[in-house]
Amino acid sequence: MDTLSRTLRTGAQIPPIGLGTFGSDRYGPDEVAAAVRGGLEAGYRLVDCASVYGNEAEVGAAIAASGVPRDDLFVMSKVWNDAHDPDDAVASVRRSLRHLRLDHLDAVFVHWPFPNHHAPHASVEDRDSTARPYDHGAYLALWRALEGLVDEGVVRHLGTSNTTVPKLRLLLRDARVLPSLNEMELHPTFQQPELFDMCVTNGIQPVGYSPLGSPSRPERDRTDDDPVDVEHPVVRRIAEVHGVHPAVVCLKWAVARGQVPIPFAVKPEQYRANLEGALTDPLTAEELAAMADVDRGARLIKGQVFLWEGASSWHDLWDEDGAIPGGRV
Ligand SMILES: NC(=O)c1ccc[n+]([C@@H]2O[C@H](COP(=O)([O-])OP(=O)(O)OC[C@H]3O[C@@H](n4cnc5c(N)ncnc54)[C@H](OP(=O)(O)O)[C@@H]3O)[C@@H](O)[C@H]2O)c1
Repeated sequence: MDTLSRTLRTGAQIPPIGLGTFGSDRYGPDEVAAAVRGGLEAGYRLVDCASVYGNEAEVGAAIAASGVPRDDLFVMSKVWNDAHDPDDAVASVRRSLRHLRLDHLDAVFVHWPFPNHHAPHASVEDRDSTARPYDHGAYLALWRALEGLVDEGVVRHLGTSNTTVPKLRLLLRDARVLPSLNEMELHPTFQQPELFDMCVTNGIQPVGYSPLGSPSRPERDRTDDDPVDVEHPVVRRIAEVHGVHPAVVCLKWAVARGQVPIPFAVKPEQYRANLEGALTDPLTAEELAAMADVDRGARLIKGQVFLWEGASSWHDLWDEDGAIPGGRV
């Protein structure tokens, strides 16, 4: 493992940067898999998968074809929202293992804390009344099933994703196998300092998704007057100084802050530049201070499709009082 690897609460190490594999809105499974193989050959050792990405079989074949020894890899997957019932969750993880051709996963995440049966690209208008607000008892039953997979040795670490401070507080109180990782949206204009600090204080490694601000996503709020991430003038200025693309500056900042970014890129020149740039020529203290100042709470993945009956806007998903019936804990 690289010297910048992070140590998890079990003592295991996780590489400082990984490969995202969600690309099914624009790239086919084979293209994503080719990037995983190329990325592993270029030196990546962490792969972020999910059952809902619909490409675990192809990604599994790419991992096998790379020839990288299993012990050198950290492979993560996620349980989707339609598999929150404990038996379904176990079946989902076993399916991911089969598709990925692995006998264990280094980490399994609960993808979202809200159960529902939405197709991943369902629009807000098409949302389905099976969406339900957070129910700690149900979440804990799911978590207990995943704890059983840790006991069995087929999963090494558990993680939360798209969670909030109060939900994490409840889980830390009640879990037998504590979360080792939290996969959360993190990019320069969306730094989530409260949740980030809570994770670090409690021995939970933050994994940063959409670390470049997912520049090509159509749902990205984008106005010329309010540039974010790779378009932000501070990021661009620092990129010029270092002679790299602004995307690489986002990754240098992420690694320096201590989160594990998982950028997605299918183009070899991009995934190679991301790995090389993230781990070399670090930002100066002044540059890091300037990067800290670009945060403006610009959430990208709003999760509108997870709205339940009675939730009036996506803010309800993330609002700390609204997220848990009965209010803040
Ligand atoms: N847990 C969750 O709920 C969750 C949610 C979202 C994402 N994720 C994970 O996080 C991963 C990354 O997030 P993301 O895919 O949303 O966004 P991202 O990594 O922030 O952005 C990916 C896009 O950035 C561009 N890019 C990558 N490297 C570049 C470079 N060096 N120079 C210029 N452009 C570059 C590419 O655009 P082009 O293809 O247009 O070149 C690529 O498609 C996902 O693949 C997935 O594994 C998890």
